[in-house]
Amino acid sequence: MDLVLGHEFVKVTEKTAIATARTMGQGDRKYSDHVAVEAMRAEMDTLQMDGTIVIGEGERDKAPMLFVGEKVGALKDDPLAPKVGIAVDPLEGTNLCATGSANAIAVLAAADMGSLLYAPDIYMDKIVVGPTAKGKIDISAPVEENLKRIARAFDRDIDDITIVVLERDRHKDLIARIRKAGARIKLIGDGDLSAGIAAAIRGTGIHGAIGIGGSPEGVITAAAVRCLGGDMQARFHPTEKWQEDRLTELGFKDFKQIYTAEDLAKGKNIFFCATGVTSGDLLQGVRYFGGGIRTSTIFMSFADKIIQFVDTIHQEERVPITVR
Ligand code: FBP
Repeated sequence: MDLVLGHEFVKVTEKTAIATARTMGQGDRKYSDHVAVEAMRAEMDTLQMDGTIVIGEGERDKAPMLFVGEKVGALKDDPLAPKVGIAVDPLEGTNLCATGSANAIAVLAAADMGSLLYAPDIYMDKIVVGPTAKGKIDISAPVEENLKRIARAFDRDIDDITIVVLERDRHKDLIARIRKAGARIKLIGDGDLSAGIAAAIRGTGIHGAIGIGGSPEGVITAAAVRCLGGDMQARFHPTEKWQEDRLTELGFKDFKQIYTAEDLAKGKNIFFCATGVTSGDLLQGVRYFGGGIRTSTIFMSFADKIIQFVDTIHQEERVPITVR
């Protein structure tokens, strides 16, 4: 995998976001997701790689496209082609897109085969911070302790930091404790992957993302966190017996094991790419204007140590371009 291939992934999330954003506000999250999956799959197949989906839309029998194990790329099974493991979330925040709310993104992470942990689609408890608080978090410690450490790392009081939490019944106690400790909270309806990335970037006004969300989103977050030099800890949070059985089937023995970002996204060859579908904390959503479309993307390469904010104007006609 080289940077030339890495940059090709920008086209994949851009094209996905462009197709998907047309469904914004239509109130049909499944349809939005379907459009995203179709667009991402089509674009992925143009890339010069022998790719395999390692985190995708689910198992083969339930997901018609981008299922785990599906081969993608223009050089499938070519022995000379780069072998790439790809974790995709074609539309992270299906409800956000369906309702026209902030922070829906088209996102993927790509790495050498075997680098991204195969996490089944169950819940994961996560805590994500940026480089400033790296080394300070401990998911097994009480949340109050983590807040104290994050605040100290920023050289602030607890009431000067903001934590993002998914608004869910399962987080009632967590939210109450964060409130009692004095930190500010940003409750989100969906999208803890975007929240994790925002927490790892200074200037977003978010100092941590804490709580239980999807495991696949956790692995993709870890890829971004590594590129950004942030910190993350996570552990599976099975809530039903079949989920424990699935973990066992996949070879996970200790369900309480704590995973770091390095455990979830290993190695040095890691690319991360996300394009805004709807505007959010970090990325602008897709803007259609007569004669063209404008997209906003973040691309990162761990090995190359680059973070790029890619603002693309996709011209349909040679219309005057405004820089704003
Ligand atoms: P979708 O994009 O699949 O709708 O997921 C959105 C999301 O909010 C994730 O960001 C989060 O990890 C997960 O769902 C939380 O799951 P749940 O909605 O079951 O609490």
